[in-house]
Amino acid sequence: MISICRDVERVLISEEEIQNRVRELGRQISGDYRGKRPILVAVLRGAIVFLCDLMRYMSIPVTVDFLSVSSYSGHIQTGVVRILKDLDENIEKRYVILIEDIVDTGLTLSYIIKTLKTRNPAHISVCALLDKRSRRVVDVPVDYVGFEIPDEFVVGYGMDYNQKYRNLPFIGVLRREILQG
Ligand code: IMP
Repeated sequence: MISICRDVERVLISEEEIQNRVRELGRQISGDYRGKRPILVAVLRGAIVFLCDLMRYMSIPVTVDFLSVSSYSGHIQTGVVRILKDLDENIEKRYVILIEDIVDTGLTLSYIIKTLKTRNPAHISVCALLDKRSRRVVDVPVDYVGFEIPDEFVVGYGMDYNQKYRNLPFIGVLRREILQG
């Protein structure tokens, strides 16, 4: 067992549940995007683990690119969204699938979609592993959702708390004293 597991109060979504759902999403997206050669744009850094699994469950040709935005410090939302690393690829006339770890208020995604739309892609869709729908501040379309979760701060499977816990293979809730620091 990884020692950081001790900081986890409970497992919200197990490794097996994640893999089963990501496999389903991979199949579904492959069917929907046949012949379209989509570009998977992962939002760094939280979405990398999801991207790596999802793309291996896809049976159609895809390309990948990365975008990095900053909006959080610790687990408190600052509300400030900045592009830290832009795409390398030109997305004009391309089918873009934004890959997100979690949609919370929706502010990050709404900013990203607005920015990418100015580059004239053929279409933009969103695939998020987790959706905290009850926390939404702006309405953003999420086309593919892995799991809807309650309003709790989660870590693992790419998601962090102060850059830790990304390597947990499951999604868990941290013990209260860790979050209170
Ligand atoms: P939004 O702009 O509020 O939708 O925030 C989206 C981003 O906040 C996600 O891509 C995550 O990086 C981060 N985030 C939101 N909730 C959590 C959480 O429970 N755990 C880890 N990161 C989170």
